[in-house]
Amino acid sequence: MGEIKRVGVLGCGLMGSGVAQVAAAAGYETSVRDVSPEILDRARTGIDRSLAKFVEKGKLQPPDRDAALKRLTFTTNTADLKGCDIVVEAVTEDVETKNTLWRELDGLCPPATIFASNTSSLTIAAMAAATKRPDRFVGLHFFNPVPLMQLVEVVRTVTTSDDTFARAFAFAKSLGKEPVAAKDTSGFIVNLLLVPYLLDAIRAVEHRVASVPDIDKAMQLGCGYPMGPLTLLDFVGLDTTYRIAEIMFTEYRDAKYAPPPLLKRMVLAGMHGKKSGKGFYDYAVTPPAVSSLGL
Ligand code: CAA
Ligand code: NAD
Repeated sequence: MGEIKRVGVLGCGLMGSGVAQVAAAAGYETSVRDVSPEILDRARTGIDRSLAKFVEKGKLQPPDRDAALKRLTFTTNTADLKGCDIVVEAVTEDVETKNTLWRELDGLCPPATIFASNTSSLTIAAMAAATKRPDRFVGLHFFNPVPLMQLVEVVRTVTTSDDTFARAFAFAKSLGKEPVAAKDTSGFIVNLLLVPYLLDAIRAVEHRVASVPDIDKAMQLGCGYPMGPLTLLDFVGLDTTYRIAEIMFTEYRDAKYAPPPLLKRMVLAGMHGKKSGKGFYDYAVTPPAVSSLGL
């Protein structure tokens, strides 16, 4: 199998833009596909800002920043990813949305191209089976914010070949990440443990155990976590967390993964967290204020 030179990224929201940034910074020609020029522009601005922070801190030299930006191309056309050696998918957590794209790409990319999903909770086998290359399908689960978080879970499903797994693992390392091997169980390693904790924090709000900032403060100062759970939920996205919880609850039929009613109501109200401007906190003001949740 050939060397990885060109990287495709499907979706450039929170995660896809981070994956595109680290791929371009690591020297790969990177093409990013999303649904509209506005979303692509927002991602480009976010990547610019993130690279500028690394330059400010002396972790990246300006010529390397410029070279990384030159390696990035943005498109609304899936066909522009046809020459990629690996495609990392980071679109909305919905199997049909993902599989529609995988089917399209399967017909466009050469047989050697590796397909990698950044899904948080879906079964990799369900996506691999939608393509004619189930042996070249793998999970590459990055963490938010991708430019700062070291971990990547490299997920092999029942059909993933040894060669594909080894190449995906080496690819994650080449991005400066620390990969771990995980099996194709919903939530892999981190979300299997993290999601019940985050959902329990929402249940604590519902049961008025304490205020939102006090729950955050308690977990930060009591456990040494960098963010409290409700801040982290706003950061991950409440819409994404809701989808993940539904998928994991359907998979395990275990109440610890059931999305709490408050989460559903906040998502229905458009409170998707930091990316929408409002979640458990209101980001219209600095520092963010506590949202009124009608409790
Ligand atoms: N790019 C470059 N630099 C960035 C950046 C970015 N996107 N975001 C922040 N920084 C820099 C800041 O400029 C800052 O630099 P200084 O130290 O020089 O000031 C530094 O990183 C730290 O940032 P902040 O002071 O703003 O914030 P922080 O100290 O709280 O650190 C954090 C930020 C690394 C995100 C930290 O809060 C953290 O680790 N939070 C937990 C994140 C986490 O748990 N992620 C996993 C989510 S779950 C998931 O991803 C899986 C899933 O499937 C849902
Ligand atoms: P997001 O909502 O920020 O971004 C999703 C992007 O996908 C949007 O820009 C949307 O326009 C795009 N999209 C939707 N349909 C598309 C299509 N047909 N073609 C191209 N682009 C399309 O979501 P996110 O947080 O970046 O999550 C993306 C994936 O990464 C999900 O599978 C999620 O579970 C996973 N993930 C999320 C996190 C997190 O902390 N948010 C962490 C790890 C993994």
